[in-house]
Amino acid sequence: MGKKLHISVDQDICIGCTTCAALCPKYYQMSETTGKAEPVQEVASDKADFDEIIEAERSCPVDAISVEEKE
Ligand code: F3S
Repeated sequence: MGKKLHISVDQDICIGCTTCAALCPKYYQMSETTGKAEPVQEVASDKADFDEIIEAERSCPVDAISVEEKE
């Protein structure tokens, strides 16, 4: 089995800056109710998406995003 990325956004830390959703809208979206980001899907298995997912994680100014690699 290939590696998968598990994505989470800490709702207490996110300040709703929208950078992650702008960089990688396939995996991060802004909640209309909270104004904060949430994963579109929590598990990514397509390696073609990994760089973008990680770039968005690193671009968050308050480090609200966690991306964990699991089998
Ligand atoms: Fe929130 Fe960071 Fe995205 S502040 S909107 S998780 S870039």
